[in-house]
Amino acid sequence: MRVALVTGGSRGIGLALVQELLAKGFKVGVASRHPETAVADLTRQGLAAFAVPIDLEHEPPEKAVAQAVAQGGLHVLVHAAGINVRKPALELGYEEWRRVLYLHLDVAFLLAKAAAPHMAQAGWGRILFLGSATTFTSGGPVPIPAYTTAKTALLGLTRALAKEWAPLGIRVNLLCPGYVKTEFTAPVWGNPELYNPITARIPLGRWASPEEIAKVGAFLCTDEAGYLTGQAVVVDGGFLAY
Ligand SMILES: NC(=O)c1ccc[n+]([C@@H]2O[C@H](COP(=O)([O-])OP(=O)(O)OC[C@H]3O[C@@H](n4cnc5c(N)ncnc54)[C@H](OP(=O)(O)O)[C@@H]3O)[C@@H](O)[C@H]2O)c1
Repeated sequence: MRVALVTGGSRGIGLALVQELLAKGFKVGVASRHPETAVADLTRQGLAAFAVPIDLEHEPPEKAVAQAVAQGGLHVLVHAAGINVRKPALELGYEEWRRVLYLHLDVAFLLAKAAAPHMAQAGWGRILFLGSATTFTSGGPVPIPAYTTAKTALLGLTRALAKEWAPLGIRVNLLCPGYVKTEFTAPVWGNPELYNPITARIPLGRWASPEEIAKVGAFLCTDEAGYLTGQAVVVDGGFLAY
């Protein structure tokens, strides 16, 4: 059984990716600070999920990879753990800037670097980072300078690793959701002054569910997506096309 590790797998888009990967027959490690509730729910349903408790801001990301490898190797890595600090650049402290950059970008690099040798050993691997529509924009009506910088930089990392690791059988892609209703975006969808103009700009006229994003992301982790690498795959209801 192929093994997948999903950071941020305890809720939101990460949890939906866990569910889609389980449905595709992977054994899936749920990595987050509090993965226990999600894993208990999944195992109660007879699904092959296991908990990887880790605080990726304060513990070495390699620890999560080692815990997954102990379950039988590592074939898929998804980095969906994320935080945001919504402040204009002039009010954003350097510590806040570093926190956001570290969790989204540095941790992506460290996880991928730890995972790649195991994928190379299997001759097969899939790495999926989480970008965003903000990979290609300023970030929209709410200022998020560190977040949008991290999400854009992840495209560079995706391309660099895709090229370097193609001969090892590893595909590396960036999944870029538009607006998705999760806890992460609650301060935005909970405020009609932000929610209404954003929603009016989405050609499909609504926000995505985590499942709609995860179905595309899980496909990128399959054999069928074997000729797809180094790409940003945007799932945004037409937001960027507006
Ligand atoms: N929602 C959107 O509209 C949207 C759009 C584009 C891109 N994205 C991206 O998609 C990804 C998932 O977003 P989401 O909306 O699903 O967010 P979410 O519902 O807030 O989930 C965030 C996940 O990250 C984990 N996490 C946070 N800090 C962590 C840490 N220090 N160590 C380990 N895990 C940590 C959380 O788990 P614990 O609390 O258990 O640690 C949780 O599982 C993020 O990369 C986000 O930037 C989201």
